[in-house]
Amino acid sequence: MASPHWLYAISLLLLLSFQLFSTISEAVVPASDTFSYVNEGVFGDYIVEYDANYRFLPPFSNPFQLCFYNTTPNAYTLALRMGTVRSEALMRWVWEANRGNPVRENATLTFGTDGNLVLADADGRIAWQTNTANKGVVGFQLLPTGNMVLHDGKGNFIWQSFDSPTDTLLIGQSLRAGGVSKLVSRASAESNTDGPYSLVMEPNMLALYYKSPNSPRPMLYWSLYVDRVSVLNLTLTSDTATAEGFLYYFEFLYFTTNSQAASDVDLTYAHTRYNNTLSYLRVGMDGNLRFYTYNPNVQVYAWDVAYEFMGRDSLESECQLPERCGKFGLCENSQCVACPTPNGLSGWSTDCEAKKVTSCKASDFSYYKLEGVNHFMIRYTRGDGGTKQSDCESKCTKDCKCMGYFYHTADSRCWIAYDLKTLTKVRNSTHLAYIKTPKN
Ligand SMILES: *[C@@H]1O[C@H](CO)[C@@H](O)[C@H](O)[C@H]1NC(C)=O
Ligand SMILES: *[C@@H]1O[C@H](CO)[C@@H](O)[C@H](O)[C@H]1NC(C)=O
Ligand SMILES: *[C@@H]1O[C@H](CO)[C@@H](O)[C@H](O)[C@H]1NC(C)=O
Ligand SMILES: *[C@@H]1O[C@H](CO)[C@@H](O)[C@H](O)[C@H]1NC(C)=O
Repeated sequence: MASPHWLYAISLLLLLSFQLFSTISEAVVPASDTFSYVNEGVFGDYIVEYDANYRFLPPFSNPFQLCFYNTTPNAYTLALRMGTVRSEALMRWVWEANRGNPVRENATLTFGTDGNLVLADADGRIAWQTNTANKGVVGFQLLPTGNMVLHDGKGNFIWQSFDSPTDTLLIGQSLRAGGVSKLVSRASAESNTDGPYSLVMEPNMLALYYKSPNSPRPMLYWSLYVDRVSVLNLTLTSDTATAEGFLYYFEFLYFTTNSQAASDVDLTYAHTRYNNTLSYLRVGMDGNLRFYTYNPNVQVYAWDVAYEFMGRDSLESECQLPERCGKFGLCENSQCVACPTPNGLSGWSTDCEAKKVTSCKASDFSYYKLEGVNHFMIRYTRGDGGTKQSDCESKCTKDCKCMGYFYHTADSRCWIAYDLKTLTKVRNSTHLAYIKTPKN
């Protein structure tokens, strides 16, 4: 028979062990390390990227600083800014928490004792959070690499900003299978929402896509194949070529399922004398992929494009950019040279546009032919081989959304185009385009 003393002792023991257990399993951020910052007060003095207004928050680790910024009134993004004091006028936004979901004046960023980092709007609506409440987080740190981390008592990262890139990769940052495996461009300098371009890490290639509202699927306009392996992650790295002291080169390091060892693809062959902490890769608003670096010896234009994937000095031409020549234009040697019309080529301007076909009835439209041109999707896709031209045409005719088709007579390949944008002039006269136009 248990005496009341025994019962008392047992329940006390249970209570104690429960408390002990909960202190271990629950995060305990020391109260002195918690914070809550309000989005209010004066704006920073300097000109920053996108001509934004900004307010900086205390977390700072040279050259990175946490800020709220806006490009349209009262619509703020929580972001990391990169740049040295000498490049104040050129600070770049390299990471952001809440693209497409802005907060207003008096929004708060709170790091509580439970270990969760929460961005809440002025009315309390949670705009963004790390979802790390009671997961063992004991501290917050902004590292000198630009990685913002929440760590446990052993120093392991429970959450890190490097796991959630938007359009930018910093040195050491990765795309990961099973995690964020793509970068998405920004819509415009004014609008911080997803733009139409993305760099996507796929099992055996790295690809750039353009998402047109008219197209059922994003269109491929650049890719790099990785041989017969499955890529797990791609990390942007930068090594010092020791002999020269301050020479850096950029490479993508990739880990694959087939080999335990890492391999690397030196995508760029870019060599630069610049500082590799202040370097990043970005999918631009124009769909180009660029490496930027910082030249500490220059006062004004210190940020340099060390390499762009599509450009005059690159392996791929600028003409490969879907919107290089606007809504509709012919590109040659990186220049927009003509505006195709049913009556032949005319001079190019930003207004060039294919006439809209509003009817789906085959009797309401016809096609006009262009010789020696390619669509941007042709260079990296194979189209349908062994297709007769009449079949290619009827496929387009039956598809209301098809704006034209591209046909290579030499090898009977057919491509259906859901958007036209930039066509490239090629020397091969067997490469044909047929553009839909209304009959009237
Ligand atoms: C922000 O909060 C402060 C203090 O509560 C208040 O005085 C101010 O009007 C608020 N600002 C806006 C824009 O609501
Ligand atoms: C990439 O994958 C490899 C293999 O699984 C792993 O060892 C490495 O830590 C990963 N790197 C990152 C940054 O995720
Ligand atoms: C690169 O820039 C960072 C930040 O300004 C600085 O701490 C670091 O020393 C620089 N490295 C070199 C090699 O200049
Ligand atoms: C034209 O392109 C076809 C493939 O579409 C190719 O077989 C042929 O050799 C090319 N001709 C010239 C002159 O480049």
